[in-house]
Order: sequence, then structure tokens, then C-alpha cells
Amino acid sequence: MKVAEHIKQIQTPPITEVKSWLTKQTFAADKPLVDLCQAVPSYSPPKELIEHLKGAMDDPFTFKYSPDEGLLNVRQEVCRWYHRHYHGAPQPEQLCLTIGASQAFWLAMTTLCQPGDEVIIQLPAYFDHLMGLQALGIKPVCAPFDPTNAGQPDLQAISRLINAKTKAILLVTPSNPTGAVIPAKQINSFFELAQARNISLILDETYNAFIGTAPHSLFNCTDWPDHFIQIASFGKTFALTGLRCGALIASENVIQHTLKVQDSMVVCQPRTAQLALQFGCQHLDAWVAKNSLTMRQRHDRFKTDFQAAKTAFELIASGSFFAWVKHPWKDLNGRQAAQRLVEKENLICLPGETFGPGLESYLRLSFGNIESAQIPDAIARLQHC
Ligand SMILES: Cc1ncc(COP(=O)(O)O)c(C=O)c1O
Repeated sequence: MKVAEHIKQIQTPPITEVKSWLTKQTFAADKPLVDLCQAVPSYSPPKELIEHLKGAMDDPFTFKYSPDEGLLNVRQEVCRWYHRHYHGAPQPEQLCLTIGASQAFWLAMTTLCQPGDEVIIQLPAYFDHLMGLQALGIKPVCAPFDPTNAGQPDLQAISRLINAKTKAILLVTPSNPTGAVIPAKQINSFFELAQARNISLILDETYNAFIGTAPHSLFNCTDWPDHFIQIASFGKTFALTGLRCGALIASENVIQHTLKVQDSMVVCQPRTAQLALQFGCQHLDAWVAKNSLTMRQRHDRFKTDFQAAKTAFELIASGSFFAWVKHPWKDLNGRQAAQRLVEKENLICLPGETFGPGLESYLRLSFGNIESAQIPDAIARLQHC
């Protein structure tokens, strides 16, 4: 069967590719695999959430469709969560519950863009955004990576990339892969730029629960719905990545159009995910705050230990979950460098070039995936290279 040419051009999903290298290898008991590959919380959801879902299995409604946009009482609960964690909050009509942030991204792109349109992204970019845009025939226009910027997007550089085909500026904060958090003031400037040029600012805020403060105040602006869209994930927040809990937050008008795509794509977020999300928003603020602090402390420990270790790797940027490092091998690209780490040090991580063109000198280390106690061993392995 013939596969469409533009799909053939897209890279293999990076985590699948990197994990496939492991099948060729065995790991000695005294040097087990250190997995810095995927961004998954190292902990499970709390017992009470699991018990709540177990109880829901006796209810026949759990197994039925919900409205396309999700159950009203769940969306109301999510809005209350926003009221507590952001300055301002969307209304339930401005929310569509999705199969993770991943599907929210597809809804946003299919609703705003047609093939040939352009979306500006900041390098290094989240690989699924690049891959999704390519699959949809939307041109990703990349703002170049400046290693001296600590992973922050450059307003002026992005402003220069806007043209008549641009539909949106798509930013990720905290960033995957750099961990960099865009300050609220800077987010405001990007929103003002989107307003001035009549395009959308789309923020993927998958890691918003790990900042420790309100990420921005855009929901407090009465006119946010005209130029702002949020891609939300509760997968990392409540350690539910496998349940696929996300949401698209946009104007009621955009959501109404989005539902045409939602209906034909998935119909609705599964009810199990909705019930978990509702429970999380209702009961887990303290649990999330504790884990958020743990993740920030883990980052502090990683950064301190990394800098003290004086490895040949250079820490370019980091934050909760991620470190973006420059590897020391001038003659190797990121794939080759990552392969070398697997083969010699039993450590897996992602090659820089999976996050966009020209990033072969870099690697992403997802230390959020391991416990704090494992950090010294992970860094020692980098020291041995
Ligand atoms: C920036 C970013 N957006 C979206 C996703 C996907 O989130 P979800 O699991 O909610 O689809 C991830 C997952 O790692 C991510 O890092």
C-alpha cells in the first residue's frame, strides 16, 4: 500500500526509536538502565483516586459516551481548578475535554489552519508539534534556538516571522525539552503581539502544575478568547498520562467549530478519564502541590549536582522534568551521541535533532522520570564519558 509522501517525510516517534535501541542490549545488575527518555512522573496517582475509579466501574454510565465536549459537571470542576491556580479562569463553554494535550493540539490546528498555512514555533520544539504540523500539511516556521537565551523564546525574532500565512504562534511553557518557564510578563507581550497581528497565541501548558505559581494572567483579560488558546494536560498534574486527560481552552466560537473535528475524531474523552480529572480537580490540590515541590527540588538537586560534577556536557537550560544539554562529541550528531550513552553507560535520553533542525549537538535528559536518589548515578554516568 502506498503511504502519503508527506507522512513518509516525518521522523519516527523519537521515544519509539530510542526505546528500540534497547532491544539489542542487556543490562548488568550492577549497572541497570537509567531511563531519561520519556517525561512521565516517577510516582503513581494517589490511592483515593484509584479507589474512586474502582467504584465507578459499577456504574453502567462509566462505559457510555459523554457529550463531545465532556460532561458539564467535569468542565465546571476544571474551571474551579483554574480559578484557584490561575488569575482568572475560562467558562465551561470555553473548554473541550480531549484525549490528552496531544489531541487538544490537533483540534487547535485543524480548527485554525488549512494546509499551506504557517504556525511559528520556537526551537527546540516539542517533537509531536513538529510531527503533527507536518502531518496536517501546515508549515512549521521555526524561530532559531539561541543557546545564550536559556530556552526563552525571542519576541522580536518571532515577530519578524509573522506574515500573511501565519495563523498562530505556538509556545510551550514550561518548555519541553528545555524546562524553561516563560515569565508571565513575557507571555503578556506575546499575547499583545498576537492581538496586534490578528493571529492566535497558543500555549501548551502541559507542565503548568510544576511552576509553583500562577503561570500567567491571560484568563483575567476580558478579550483573551479573541487571540488566546490553551492546550492543557492533566496527565502530568495528576500522574494520569495513560488515561489521556487533556483539554482545549478557547473562545466558545472556536470550541463550537472544534466539536465538528472532535466528533469525527474521537467523539469524546473517555468517561474514566473525565471521572479521574473531576476527582483530581476536586480533591488533589495538596497532593499536586507536594509533588510539584518534589519536582522542583529534584530539579534543584539535578542542577547543583550536574554543575558540581564538571562533566564534559554543558547544561544549556533546565527546569522541572527536563535538562537540555550540549554533548561533547563534535563528530557525532545527537542520535549517535544518545546511542553511545546507551551502549557505554546504559543511559537513554533523546537526541537534540528530534526537537527540530540544526540541534544535533544537544540531548534532552528527562530527569523527572527518575527518583532524586538516582540523580547522582545518572550524572556519574555522564562523567565517565
Ligand atoms: C509539551 C507537551 N505537550 C503535550 C504532551 C502530551 O500530553 P498528553 O499526554 O496530555 O497528550 C507532552 C507529553 O510529554 C508534552 O511534553
